[in-house]
Amino acid sequence: MHEPFAAVDVIRAKRDGGALTPEQIDWVVDAYTRGVVSEEQMAALAMAVFLRGMDTAETARWTGAMIDSGERLALHVSRPTVDKHSTGGVGDKITLPLAPLVATCGAAVPQLSGRGLGHTGGTLDKLESIPGWRAQLSAHAIGRQLEEIGAVVCAATDTLAPADRKLYALRDVTSTVESVPLIASSIMSKKIAEGAGGLVLDVKVGSGAFMGSLDEARVLAKTLVDIGTAHGLPTRALLTDMSTPLGAAVGNAVEVAEAVDVLRGGGPDDVVALTLALAREMLALAGHGDVDPGPVLASGEAYETWCRMISAQGGDPDAPLPKPEHVHVVEAPESGVLTTLDARAVGVAAWRLGAGRARKEDPVQAAAGVRCLAKPGERVEAGSPLLELHTDTPDAVPSALAALDGGIEVSDSAPERAPWPSTTVLDTVRS
Ligand code: URA
Repeated sequence: MHEPFAAVDVIRAKRDGGALTPEQIDWVVDAYTRGVVSEEQMAALAMAVFLRGMDTAETARWTGAMIDSGERLALHVSRPTVDKHSTGGVGDKITLPLAPLVATCGAAVPQLSGRGLGHTGGTLDKLESIPGWRAQLSAHAIGRQLEEIGAVVCAATDTLAPADRKLYALRDVTSTVESVPLIASSIMSKKIAEGAGGLVLDVKVGSGAFMGSLDEARVLAKTLVDIGTAHGLPTRALLTDMSTPLGAAVGNAVEVAEAVDVLRGGGPDDVVALTLALAREMLALAGHGDVDPGPVLASGEAYETWCRMISAQGGDPDAPLPKPEHVHVVEAPESGVLTTLDARAVGVAAWRLGAGRARKEDPVQAAAGVRCLAKPGERVEAGSPLLELHTDTPDAVPSALAALDGGIEVSDSAPERAPWPSTTVLDTVRS
């Protein structure tokens, strides 16, 4: 096949700070997927993009080229479809109550999810702690479940944006993950290819997130929303706090148990508040802005949808969830107000206890994780239980404790406050 460009010219153009043409972008992404542009060449281009950036038009085109590297999922569903994506946080189990809630309120939610890598957990890993539950579904089964139940959470098919899969693995080993245009095009290529009619993004801000500051997170949110707009996908982003874990549970089975509490009308206030905030945005995009998800969640109606959604994928919603073989209690070091419970520290601790994986092929422990027994702003007494560390491998406890070092602060002078949920949603970006 005659190649219209040479990779070195494309790399040089970006290295020297120029904008790539639409034709160059289409070609380089396609040629990389075909193996004509080598890993070394794409690594150099990814680093040039990391250092020089891409403008809005380039980023939207790059996203389109990654979508075109695979197939779009054709959803034939009678209700409006709308999806949510989170940039990843600690204790972020929101998809679990959110998808059945929005389905109960009249929209359909196709959620193609991933597994966790690093200190933020993956939705599929969490759901796989439910006995019998299957992540892998055919495109036909996804369509049928969406039509019948209105919610499906499953693994992305191999044909969805394959260029992104290849490029993400390369970015992971070349220190080019943390680039706004590369993160945004990666996320949006998969979400646009999934074919939902609207998209709500939960862009996390704080120590447990990609973006540490509100300003950085705003840039990412705007880039994501701009890509959606350029591709005709109505998109909104909420900027939400990730300085401390969401809810009390961090891990796999523990997070499922907390999500079930929320679906039964209980659960921690911050999880309920964020679930409802995202549900309102999703319902507005789906044309159901007049439905109030609050009473639906409180009534336990969405729990019925959850049970159907889990059963449809082979899971037993009534089966007991796996329990850890070992529980280690971390006590409050002194009496006072808990001022810091750092999201990253708790996320890394849960990961080291076995809830997450270091390499893609590693297994995860269903029962591993952390339960936070107090939230920042609450008063604690010296020696009272602050955290429970759950694991099947007690040898992991010392390294989990090391991860928590410096992540917990108690002050005897700080005022007590009711911290949640008023600060959870920090800002909103709309197209
Ligand atoms: N999630 C993605 O899907 N891609 C990125 O680049 C970062 C987070």
